[in-house]
Amino acid sequence: MSKIKRFSVSVKDNLLKDFDSFVSRKGYPTRSKAIEDIVRGELKRESLLKGNMGTGAIILVYDHHKRELVAKLTDIQHDYHNLVICNQHVHLDHNNCMESIVVQGKQKEMQELTDKLKAQKGVKSVSLSIASAKK
Ligand code: NI
Repeated sequence: MSKIKRFSVSVKDNLLKDFDSFVSRKGYPTRSKAIEDIVRGELKRESLLKGNMGTGAIILVYDHHKRELVAKLTDIQHDYHNLVICNQHVHLDHNNCMESIVVQGKQKEMQELTDKLKAQKGVKSVSLSIASAKK
């Protein structure tokens, strides 16, 4: 078991207030435990991004009423057909659709595909989550 080290952190008043509320909502026993989890998560994310190859998912939400957008999003995905494993469509509500695109391959291309989808007008949110990575 590794030794516990203490360090002090300076943050703005408002941020600390929000953080304490986060700690309480998440049910952390202490701030330290919450910070430990957050730091560990960020370090893991960084190490995943260092891999060249990976498997992940792109989640996007877009305006369903923009018909040309649906075609454009499909065209973009076809340009990356080697990367896209499958695509699941969810009709979120009257106006919005969500797609979860499972991707596997070069992380650089996953980011490219994510950026191209993000740049389309009518796309409300896009996130790329890399689940596993290797060199
Ligand atoms: Ni839909």
